[in-house]
Amino acid sequence: MGKKIIIFDTTLRDGEQSPGCSMNNKEKLQFAKQLERLNVDVIEAGFAASSPGDFESVKSIAEEMKNSTVAVLARAMKNDIDKGWEAVKNAVSPRIHTFIATSDIHMQYKLKMAPEDVVKRAEEMVAYAARFSPEVEFSAEDATRSDPKFLAHVFDRVIKAGAKIINIPDTVGYTTPDEYFQFIMEIRKRSEYLDKAIISVHCHNDLGLAVANTLAAAKAGATQFECTVNGIGERAGNAAMEELVMIMDTRKDIYGYECNIKTEEIMKTSSLLTRITGVHVQPNKAIVGANAFAHESGIHQHGMLSHEKTYEIMTPESIGLSKSKMVLGKHSGRHAFKERIESLGYDLDKDELDLAFVQFKELADKKKEVFDRDIEAIVSKRAIESPETYKLVRYVINSGNTITSTAAVTLETSEGREEKVATGDGPVDASFNAIVKFLDTEISLEDYSIQSVTEGTDALGEALVRIKAADKKYTGRGLSTDIVESSIAAYLAAVNKMLEDRRMMQDEQEN
Ligand code: KIV
Ligand code: ZN
Repeated sequence: MGKKIIIFDTTLRDGEQSPGCSMNNKEKLQFAKQLERLNVDVIEAGFAASSPGDFESVKSIAEEMKNSTVAVLARAMKNDIDKGWEAVKNAVSPRIHTFIATSDIHMQYKLKMAPEDVVKRAEEMVAYAARFSPEVEFSAEDATRSDPKFLAHVFDRVIKAGAKIINIPDTVGYTTPDEYFQFIMEIRKRSEYLDKAIISVHCHNDLGLAVANTLAAAKAGATQFECTVNGIGERAGNAAMEELVMIMDTRKDIYGYECNIKTEEIMKTSSLLTRITGVHVQPNKAIVGANAFAHESGIHQHGMLSHEKTYEIMTPESIGLSKSKMVLGKHSGRHAFKERIESLGYDLDKDELDLAFVQFKELADKKKEVFDRDIEAIVSKRAIESPETYKLVRYVINSGNTITSTAAVTLETSEGREEKVATGDGPVDASFNAIVKFLDTEISLEDYSIQSVTEGTDALGEALVRIKAADKKYTGRGLSTDIVESSIAAYLAAVNKMLEDRRMMQDEQEN
């Protein structure tokens, strides 16, 4: 067996820091459950000390995970470590991940601390965290712009103080594969204790080298990869997990590494993240982009028909991308539906199954053929939704190429039904303008997209909407065979999320 690589997923922490990728607590928990199905070794659930909401989210993830280690990020400060430990202490396998910057530029201008004080703080805080947590990880922020001699000294001190995992991040995405390899080798040579710890690598993608740098670090001895699904993360993002995993899987002949990831769960995890954040991956993104397995040119198609391996280095099935299969129709019963859901790998409780079955029946009435991907779209919608403060009752559109579009939208709240009418540039814009009239708050539309789930004019249209209100962003998703309806549903989902967030903030202030 080859060298074992630990996959440390930081989608919920570093990934969530990226523009437009914020998630609410329910969404984070749902995503964490999918990370466990993917068989991730370590889930970095968040930065508990940053807000009461983050604390609650890390705590609930720690309490729900059955197998994965749950890590919490904490600056090298007592208060952060206390809060972090409080949040993860009930996990089956908890970890405190503490960090401090070690480059001259960060120590001088950001921390305003002398190098020896940084070492002392790192050592003291690792020792403090180790009093509670069975696993302590230490990160030297901006490691790749730090002096390797100084880093070796810091690492020796924190390992003696109790750190079991040492992370050497390329925080600003500055290094290159050859340089990184030499850098880690040099630190190993200079350090007395580093080889007793697990060496971890955490790369940002500012120069597009995050994955290549991660693999170079592995050659230099790193056995933990820190990465994110779809490569989301600060600025240009982090090393993409799906790329690292499929490189290890496809090029075992070169690397000989093993990891625990169930590759068949990759596509589902990537799509779930897109649905939650509303941020699509580019079509030509390696592994999970819409074109990653599409063969357009005649020469390629001919080759593929003769033998799949002519142009395909890995199969779509290996990442869980099934060919669209017609599975059920409008006469299919609950039992057949349940079996299909289970065979797709979903585990629904009774209420979720009841709801999904109703939605399936509604869809089967409108659509001739229902495919696996339609069912996945219905099922992955569950649990993301916030309480429906505003519920769509009906909408009537008057639109055409020679008239201004008008939408009359009727919504229901606990106080009854009301209709608002607005005009706009097309039916979707008019509908959104009508919904805005229900609200006494300013919101702006940040992003709107619609994609069909399968082929054909009767396909389900999946709309994703991102709105901004008082500097916070909220995403919503809508699903319907009618694109105006899915757009309205997505917009309302985002509005309902915003209202729930405000209610929660008010509750926090009152308590
Ligand atoms: O990029 C970075 O250095 C980080 C650390 C906190 C690990 O995200
Ligand atoms: Zn980072």
